[in-house]
Amino acid sequence: MQDMIAQIKTLSKQKKAIILAHTYQSAEIQQAADFVGDSLALSLEASRVEDAELIVFCGVTFMAETAAILNPQRKVIMPDKAAGCPMADMISAAQLRQFKAQHPGATVVCYVNSTAAVKAESDICCTSSNAVDVVASLNPDTEIIFVPDKHLGRFVEKQTGRKMIMWEGCCPIHDMLSADMCKEMQSRFPGIPLMVHPETKPEVQELADYILSTGQMIELAKKNAAKKFLVGTEMGIMHALQNAVPDKQFIHLNACLLCPDMKVNNLAKLLKALQDEETQVVVPPEIANKARPALQRMLDLS
Ligand code: 13P
Ligand code: SF4
Repeated sequence: MQDMIAQIKTLSKQKKAIILAHTYQSAEIQQAADFVGDSLALSLEASRVEDAELIVFCGVTFMAETAAILNPQRKVIMPDKAAGCPMADMISAAQLRQFKAQHPGATVVCYVNSTAAVKAESDICCTSSNAVDVVASLNPDTEIIFVPDKHLGRFVEKQTGRKMIMWEGCCPIHDMLSADMCKEMQSRFPGIPLMVHPETKPEVQELADYILSTGQMIELAKKNAAKKFLVGTEMGIMHALQNAVPDKQFIHLNACLLCPDMKVNNLAKLLKALQDEETQVVVPPEIANKARPALQRMLDLS
């Protein structure tokens, strides 16, 4: 494995590539990457790429599409383009157009976990890190449509006190985490703070001490006085947490929190993608040009 990582790093350097990886990627992919982060950090990193001639995105398609939209002059490749996001596919551009027609004049806030075509129909994007700030930045008199994640949307409603018109999508992985699973772990590990992702169900969020994006979980683990944490989000975060905070203990809530799409990528596919550059992610310019302002408006708030 270390051999393959070394090969990837050498080839990446030769090709002036940058390898970006989401915190849910496998430990070995995170080790091979130049930058590991949550969706917001990755979008910001992709918007700042200067020297790289090639972006290798280890995550799911909507993330690589975001990098491609922000870098129309650069080639973006993925280890495997089959890594999708079922939540992103829960709303199509045509469905969003219909939804907008039912609520004329509403501002559309779209979670980055969406297709480029849906972003192109939206006014502003958000990630789980900044969704509260994005919604709070909007004119208080405007109606807001929030797509596609109803759980993140409800969390934002609670934090901002603003009522939104919600699409009924959700992450099928985080949605599997139940309140009973949390209660069981909380009774086995009493007094240990529980952090969960805002894509979890409201009743799970009710039980949590912290509701955070993956990047915010890492920051909390660094700063908080607690030495142990219960963790309610996708498995890959365990490597990112342990790597960032090696002297603390992290206890994962339940093995159901495993995103098969995030695990489609592996080192062999990453090496092959770098060698052949055949797995390019292309967003048609007419869609990219319409989607870019919604992403840029979000990035300008960061
Ligand atoms: P983050 O915003 O924490 O990166 O989460 C993205 C994601 O896909 C969660 O399922
Ligand atoms: Fe999509 Fe959920 Fe997987 Fe994140 S964890 S990529 S939201 S299916």
